Amino acid sequence: MKELIIVTGGTGYIGSHTAVELMEAGYDVLIIDNLVNSRIEVLDGIEKITGRKPLFEKLDLCDRQGLTDCFARYPTTRAIIHFAAHKAVPESVEKPLKYYENNLLSLINLLNAMKNHGVRYFVFSSSCTVYGQPDKLPVTEESPIKKATSPYGNTKQISEEIISDVIAAGDAIEAISLRYFNPIGAHPSAHIGELPLGVPANLVPYLTQTAIGVREELRVFGDDYNTHDGSAVRDYINVVDLSRAHVVSINRLLAGKNAQGIEVFNLGTGKGLSVFEIIKAFVNATGVEFKYRVVNRRDGDIEQVYADTTMANKVLGWKAEIPLEETLRTAWKWEQTIRNQTG
Ligand code: UD1
Repeated sequence: MKELIIVTGGTGYIGSHTAVELMEAGYDVLIIDNLVNSRIEVLDGIEKITGRKPLFEKLDLCDRQGLTDCFARYPTTRAIIHFAAHKAVPESVEKPLKYYENNLLSLINLLNAMKNHGVRYFVFSSSCTVYGQPDKLPVTEESPIKKATSPYGNTKQISEEIISDVIAAGDAIEAISLRYFNPIGAHPSAHIGELPLGVPANLVPYLTQTAIGVREELRVFGDDYNTHDGSAVRDYINVVDLSRAHVVSINRLLAGKNAQGIEVFNLGTGKGLSVFEIIKAFVNATGVEFKYRVVNRRDGDIEQVYADTTMANKVLGWKAEIPLEETLRTAWKWEQTIRNQTG
């Protein structure tokens, strides 16, 4: 029998790609999602790629009783991968309680349900935002956790602490926290990808929408940073590569190979790229030109961050493999696909 993995937020961007990789690796997947920031049609995209539909429960994780009932319906569940969370940084500054309530209560309810139903293994979707602007680059898992620059970032820090405390208290839970750098791109089939609602805040969706003519120009937020070309530097990682790290983490937990306590891994490529470099790589990869203009820095942005991936490479045996230009071509193919669908 196949092992059943629950993927919360599994109709979202990283969740849907991870559901695909899990199913292709031979797992059964139950997606739990309340669809506030994703669409049910994502399940069709997953089916087109894998040949089967994942199980699905429409549920808000803040509904504790609903979650308990859901766990009771799937007694063979082996592990949870927890993506479901609000993630818009500026919105979290405007509506901190919305973020604290949703992101923390969801986690607490899940951990309680796991304890009550004897589900042991947990993979948490964390972020490099926990490091703030690191003093030393590339950033290792040992780098200090700085004061969060947004309520969103704070929910990721607090969540890791909650998981850690629960494990330290002796509860039968084993966990891996994956700190993502900047996930970009889409599945090469273009059956699933990122579906930003409204105006995208992130660089690559804004760029592809500009390239296709939905937006007039891309604004480059600052060219006066202390970086080699003045624009800000990030570690952009292909979403399929990133998703595969979740499969490896699940394999590790189920095989009992993880260490005591919460294990933490950076997931990036290890390479920092500037905004100008992304623009250039996109034009090289697709041959599509578009308008861009330098404007002021964006509030709250850090100058540069990129990962030291030694731990993930050595301990997880995982490495980002897909080249940047190929990744940008998948983002472009996805943008064209959704425009054709929505007109
Ligand atoms: C941000 C968060 C990160 C969070 C992620 C979720 C911070 C410091 N980081 O990542 O924690 O997990 O969002 O979505 O808040 N840029 C432009 N023009 C644009 C958009 C972006 O120049 O139209 C630049 C930004 O200034 C930045 C880079 O592109 O230098 C990447 O931006 P973005 O894609 O928004 O990701 P982060 O801000 O790194």
